[in-house]
Amino acid sequence: MTIILDGKKLRDKILADLKIRLSNFEKKPTLVVILVGDNPASKIYVNNKKKTAENIGINSIILNYPENVSEYELLSKINELNQDSDVNAILVQLPLPKHINKDNIINSIDPIKDVDGFTPTNLGLLFSGQTPNVYPCTPKGILLLLDEYNIELDGKHVVIVGRSNIVGKPLSQMMLQKNATITVCHSHTKNLAQITKTADVVVSAVGEKIIEENMLKSNCVVIDVGIFKDDNGKTRGDVDFEGVSKIASHITPVPGGVGPMTITSLMLNTAELYSAQLNRFIK
Ligand code: GUN
Repeated sequence: MTIILDGKKLRDKILADLKIRLSNFEKKPTLVVILVGDNPASKIYVNNKKKTAENIGINSIILNYPENVSEYELLSKINELNQDSDVNAILVQLPLPKHINKDNIINSIDPIKDVDGFTPTNLGLLFSGQTPNVYPCTPKGILLLLDEYNIELDGKHVVIVGRSNIVGKPLSQMMLQKNATITVCHSHTKNLAQITKTADVVVSAVGEKIIEENMLKSNCVVIDVGIFKDDNGKTRGDVDFEGVSKIASHITPVPGGVGPMTITSLMLNTAELYSAQLNRFIK
């Protein structure tokens, strides 16, 4: 019997606990989300973040800029938010329009307010085996989900498909620190199926239909980070859920697997930054 890794259930449990912890804070933490343009998927994500934040006692402010906003204007705003002691967490929703250099924008966020953990300081701390202010949300959510279902990573072969800064790269480091053996595959990888066949855990973060039953070994754990609409307008992930769930020991559904865990991690990270800022102030 394949076990479904239920991200909604774990989200509800973690957020109920976080809501209680937040009610004991002196004031509500504030998360500012910068959204540029009107990418429909980004709009949905950002609104979900806002709704979730408000339900548990986090202030959230969405700053929505037109597609043609200048890089300078965004940098000025981030500079202002960095200085504003009422702002605890800053998130710039990706992707950004092509005329804006995403790295310049991310690099301008104060690492103590970098709720995604994407700044070079936080990623550098992670990759050098030190402790970043926070861990990137999607990898963190995946590890929380594996932990909830007692899935041990020590000594396991994990194959990550996708090498993004948001998921693949930070996840590889975080799993390495749990003593897994990591293979990162990407669009230039030859013989993907041969590699995924050797995996105890497969994580797919590509955004297209890519993982089929015949690419996996029996009883592997399958984590699907992809989410997109298929030709019939149905929401689906990278993994052929029906086929793969016949042979996997554990699998995440789409929707309802990794997605809710990413938002959960964002809420946890906002609370962690708030606390870290208080401690820094007291010192
Ligand atoms: N776009 C897709 N995933 C993410 C994420 O985790 N953080 C940000 N900032 N943008 C995203």
